[in-house]
Amino acid sequence: MPNTNYLQIADDEASTTISQSVATEGVGFVDGKIVPIAEARIPILDRGFIHSDATYDVVHVWENHFFRLDDHLDRFMNGIDRLHMSIDYTREDIKKILARCVVASGLKSAYVEMICTRGVPDGNSRDPRRCTNAFYAFVVPFSWVATPEEQKKGVRLHISKVERISPQSVDPTIKNYHWLDLVRGQYDAFDADADLAVLTDRHGNIVEGAGFNVFTVKGDTVATPGTGVLKGITRKTAIELCAQLGLAVQERDVPTADVLSADEVFLTTTAGGIIPVRYVNDRKIGNGGSTTSLRLRDLYWEAHRDPRLSVPVSV
Ligand SMILES: Cc1ncc(COP(=O)(O)O)c(C=O)c1O
Repeated sequence: MPNTNYLQIADDEASTTISQSVATEGVGFVDGKIVPIAEARIPILDRGFIHSDATYDVVHVWENHFFRLDDHLDRFMNGIDRLHMSIDYTREDIKKILARCVVASGLKSAYVEMICTRGVPDGNSRDPRRCTNAFYAFVVPFSWVATPEEQKKGVRLHISKVERISPQSVDPTIKNYHWLDLVRGQYDAFDADADLAVLTDRHGNIVEGAGFNVFTVKGDTVATPGTGVLKGITRKTAIELCAQLGLAVQERDVPTADVLSADEVFLTTTAGGIIPVRYVNDRKIGNGGSTTSLRLRDLYWEAHRDPRLSVPVSV
């Protein structure tokens, strides 16, 4: 029997109690209501589902604090705007909804996704302007691109021959669900006995992988693709931390050869932070050490105690 005792976020902001049955598997926010994740459903005709006509963002909660929430909201609101979408909720409303979802889940560390879809068309119309855009969110336990144990063993990265969808077709700086190329790359990686794939652009420069950006370290210089990628919030943090360490950062084209000859390679993602890579295409990177990457990883987790970046989850 469906549970009806959910936290309601009504227009007037009146809320009821949080259901005891809302489990730590997560919660969803659909149609203005917080529901258990297993009951969070979207309409099948929502163009977000049938055409990937959507934008989204993922912020994480670590030890009961949102990390860089304002940066994630800036990127999300900008994406909504650039896709000619709009939602009834203000930025402050979204903050409140996300915090309520986290509290409802009971999770202290979590993966928090906010989504804006084109929505369901009016009647049989094919005109995207005749849709009411929808806002959804969900909170699930923190999820890792590579778990701390996998990171310890050393991540194996595969440079896939799959070309990332052109930025002239889908703007990668608007966070989107065009992932079929990334998923193809993942299968390439599995075939090559690797953990993760990074895709290339049409000129053979590396771009990004399924949920992460890529950096190389050579001497005192760190490089990361400057275009054709999502401007990750973790990428931003890594760039700031490199500056703190006195490393030069180049945002530029990164040819495959630079990755193979790098002293170190690391990945950045909300889902796991700064992840050192040990192998690329079966080749051990540098001398197999990850001094700079590990230093950056430590600083990244220390930054979670900086009140300018971490804000408590409070409703
Ligand atoms: C394609 C892509 N690139 C990079 C990233 C990393 O971005 P962030 O550091 O904001 O998580 C993501 C995150 O999901 C992504 O989907």
